[in-house]
Amino acid sequence: MFKYLGSKRVFVPVLGQIARASGARTAVDLFTGTTRVAQEFKRSGITTTATDLATYSYVYAQTFIEQDGSKIDEGVLGEAIDYLDQLPGKPGYFTETFCRKSRFFQPKNGARIDAIRNQIEEEFKGTDLYPILLTALIRAADRVDSTTGVQMAYLKEWAPRSYNDLKLIAPKLIPGTGHAKLGDAMKLVDELPRTDLMYLDPPYNQHRYFTNYHIWETLVRWDEPEVYGVACKRVDARDPELKSVFNSKPAMKDAFFDLLTRAKTDLYVISYNDESWITKEQMTRALYDAGAEHVEALEFEHSRYVGALIGIHNLQGEKVGKVSHTKNTEWIFIAGDRDRVQAAAKGAK
Ligand SMILES: C[S@@+](CC[C@H](N)C(=O)[O-])C[C@H]1O[C@@H](n2cnc3c(N)ncnc32)[C@H](O)[C@@H]1O
Repeated sequence: MFKYLGSKRVFVPVLGQIARASGARTAVDLFTGTTRVAQEFKRSGITTTATDLATYSYVYAQTFIEQDGSKIDEGVLGEAIDYLDQLPGKPGYFTETFCRKSRFFQPKNGARIDAIRNQIEEEFKGTDLYPILLTALIRAADRVDSTTGVQMAYLKEWAPRSYNDLKLIAPKLIPGTGHAKLGDAMKLVDELPRTDLMYLDPPYNQHRYFTNYHIWETLVRWDEPEVYGVACKRVDARDPELKSVFNSKPAMKDAFFDLLTRAKTDLYVISYNDESWITKEQMTRALYDAGAEHVEALEFEHSRYVGALIGIHNLQGEKVGKVSHTKNTEWIFIAGDRDRVQAAAKGAK
């Protein structure tokens, strides 16, 4: 996987347990990011749909969720990876923009990224291998970047890993069925068919993924955009249609609650942390308002699952039970029919 803000790496096992315990046969991961959570659902035999606003995330979803891993010949994929990995570097837009005008990658790796990306476009566009090879390239570039994990800035001194040679590795594909969709959750939510489980992990603050990962956007789109600023961000980052309502403090809460009401799902599973613009009480109330019969909130501390189910929330949105206050608290809300919610929550324990 690649370095990603808000990635739910440590929650993947528990989210998988929740999904399996709920008996879901279909699931949607509406803000899929790295697709980690959607991958876990798919691995559990659940027909999974992964959606996001970011094009690199869509490429990941095509690779890990939409593509039935059993249909790809590993030998053919391995050959394509080896062939691309041996191409000599040829500096182009990527090297000029991200290695010379800015210093996100060492020029020797930038030149190889240029050469490999061009060849993927020329030889593999329109084939099943296309998103898989792009995924391999993003991951390889991520392993030799010179950032702290976001692309708003690069390090003053080259990161030690940036001296390594870029190396393409074939992604491990997952057998099974799934779908990938690119788009705004506010629109997609009406287009998606009814699902047994919907997992929601939206951005809860002003940090925009489009600008934090602008290099992956450009690497996937391969459109040589005009850039601005020290970090060479895409000028279209300023376009209103590429802005997410979830990064707007005045609009986020109502938008998310509206989304909950429109979501066609039997079970909501929501990741939440208490530094967000929505309070726990507001979230609970919104889930009841959206039609849930029962809501439970599971509390986690740091990266470690504490295992403390902090309480059942009644119809008034009031917590019943004791709340232990801890730093860096993360929550998983589960909402829907009482039996289903209780079964799902039990799975997390
Ligand atoms: C907290 S991250 C999700 C992380 C993911 N659960 C994981 O483990 O990798 C939020 C995601 O929401 C996406 N996003 C932001 N606004 C969106 C919108 N309006 N519609 C769809 N996706 C959006 C971002 O691109 C980002 O990938």
